[in-house]
Parts: sequence; C-alpha cells; structure tokens
Amino acid sequence: MKKVGIVGLGEYLPEKILTNADLEKIVDTSDEWITTRTGIKERHLVQEGQATSDLAFLAAQKALKNANLKPEDLDLILVATITPDMPFPAVAAIIQDKLGAKHAAAFDISAACAGFVYGISVAEKFIASSVYKNALVIGAETLSSVTDWQDRNTCVLFGDGAGAVVLSEVKKGGIISTYLGCDGSKVGILNLPAGGSRNPATTETVRNRQHYLKMQGNELFKIAVNTMTEAAQTVLKQAGMTFSDVDLIIPHQANERIIMAVAKKLGIPKERVYLNIERCGNMSSASTVTALCEAVEEGKVKKGDIILLDAFGAGLVWGACVIEW
Ligand code: COA
Repeated sequence: MKKVGIVGLGEYLPEKILTNADLEKIVDTSDEWITTRTGIKERHLVQEGQATSDLAFLAAQKALKNANLKPEDLDLILVATITPDMPFPAVAAIIQDKLGAKHAAAFDISAACAGFVYGISVAEKFIASSVYKNALVIGAETLSSVTDWQDRNTCVLFGDGAGAVVLSEVKKGGIISTYLGCDGSKVGILNLPAGGSRNPATTETVRNRQHYLKMQGNELFKIAVNTMTEAAQTVLKQAGMTFSDVDLIIPHQANERIIMAVAKKLGIPKERVYLNIERCGNMSSASTVTALCEAVEEGKVKKGDIILLDAFGAGLVWGACVIEW
C-alpha cells in the first residue's frame, strides 16, 4: 500500500460576520451566555444567493493551487456536507464541472460534523490501493440555511464555511491511522426532520418549522465528550502511539467546553489543542478542515509533527485520524 498525505490545503470563509451582539438583537440571548457556554464570539455567514458549492469551489481552488496541481490531475472529488445546494445531484458534481476536473469521479458524503474525516479516510483508501493518484476532499456547509433564527438553543451555535485538501502519494509521513464509527440509534437527537422522503415538504412542515435543524444539546454534550475521547484513544492505539506523541489535536469545533473536556480526559494540555470556534462557530463538516488549514497557515503544524483529527456529529457518527505532517 502507498503512503498517502495531504499535499495542499485551502479554506474559504464568507465575508459577512454575525457577532454575538448581532444575535442579541435577534433572539433572547447575551454575549456572556454564548461565550461562557460555547466559546463562540462570532461566525461567518453567506450572502444571499451564496450556496455551499460556491464556498466549496473557492476553497478547492486554493487547495489545488497550494498542491501545485491542475483540475485535470484530479481522479476523485469528495464533498462532505449536510447542506448541499439541493438534494441532488451532489455538490461534488457541481465542483467537478466548475473546476473543469474532467477526469474525476465525484460524490458527496453525508456524515455531518465527522464528514471531513470520513472523506479523507475514503479517499486515502483509493490512493493507497493505487486506484487513484490525486483526490480532493472538501468539507463545506451553509448551516445558516437550515438554522432556525427564532430558536436561541441552536441559532447561536452555527456558521458557514468551507475547507479543502488534496491527497496524494507521499514518500514520508502522511496518514498513519483512521477510525470511523456510528451509532444510528440516536438519529433523533440531532436532525433535520422534513424535506426528505419521510416528511416531504408541505405547507404544514414549513409552518411547523420542520425544515430547520433540531438538537437536544444537553444530551449530545455528554455523548460528544465520551465518544471523541474514545475515538482519539482508538485511533492512536491503532497507530501504535500515545498522547505524548501528539503535537497538535485538531478537533471538531462544536463547543469549546466539549473540546476542553476531551483534552482533559486525554491528558493533552491546552497549548496542544487548536481552536477556531471563537471566530467561526460550528461549521459541521467544514470545522475540522478549516481548523487544519488555519493551524498550518499559522505555522502551528511543522514538518514531522503528529496531528490528531477528532470529530463527532449527527448520525451519530464519529471519526479520528492520525497524520504525520
Ligand atoms: N441564550 C441564553 N440562554 C439560553 C440560550 C441562549 N442562546 N440557549 C439556551 N439557553 C438557556 C436554556 O433555555 C436553559 O434555560 P432554563 O434552564 O431556564 O431552561 C439554559 O440556557 C441552559 O440550557 P442548556 O441546554 O442546559 O445549556 P448547556 O449548558 O447544555 O449549553 C449547548 C447548551 C447547546 C451550548 C450545549 O449543550 C452544547 O454545546 N451541546 C452540544 C452541541 C453539539 O455538540 N452539537 C453538534 C454536534 S456536532
């Protein structure tokens, strides 16, 4: 099997910013509540008319440029998203066309906040087994389009954005271990009830606000802490490593308190945890990948470093990955 690594990265965050002070004018909340309960200060939101593929495309272009590859070099495009432009076709198909990646197969992955980790795990297998040479994996979301702006329990949490990576064969380092999991018995605690084949859109589903995401935050909190801890332990064990080998953990950014509780359980000091939640909120599949992009951009990831991606989301699903940079 070939060694596979990340050879290019890029992110795109929409220009518009919604601060906690802005939210105070929309729902009964306060900057103090949002900051202390979640760690979020502001989030990026799309402009009217901007969709997930628009964000994904801009991130993809940057990642390709960073990898020094042309669209024609791509064999595979995966887009992790739960907010596609439309139920079908896939956002990946739209990106394939926009980029002009005429040799690439393309499909979407629906694994919510763990979608990017699922994506790189799938793409890695194609390259490791010599089926494909170059894959583009994108995490992109327009969560503002499924957020109920009347529900203070959820609307303060989410943001829009996209990140992309190019995976190719590497001589040294690269992805050492990946671990994916799912517990579908808990579909009910985080979902978007209507608009699919179970509850197609009707005037009633619209009136009942069923086209917005619903979440039992309190219950999720505890499960997220335990599951992310276990996923990190499992993937490191698979890699034959311990937490002292990890230079930087880049977790899914759902809540700073969740992240810090996981880090504490794992015995990883704060300085070795990367956060962008304060500026971006929870961007589901785009969170882990944009955090990775920013950590690299800021020089927090150096050649030879061991990084740990750790994500958890609706499904419930989870995924973790150990990479030697
Ligand atoms: N502003 C002010 N008060 C708010 C509020 C807001 N935006 N949202 C909720 N509250 C209130 C609640 O109504 C509740 O009031 P009550 O005690 O009078 O009923 C109180 O704050 C506490 O609510 P609770 O849900 O217990 O807060 P919490 O500490 O659990 O924090 C979350 C809520 C959502 C931030 C937290 O549970 C969380 O992050 N959960 C996990 C989310 C997650 O992981 N989601 C995605 C998975 S990827």
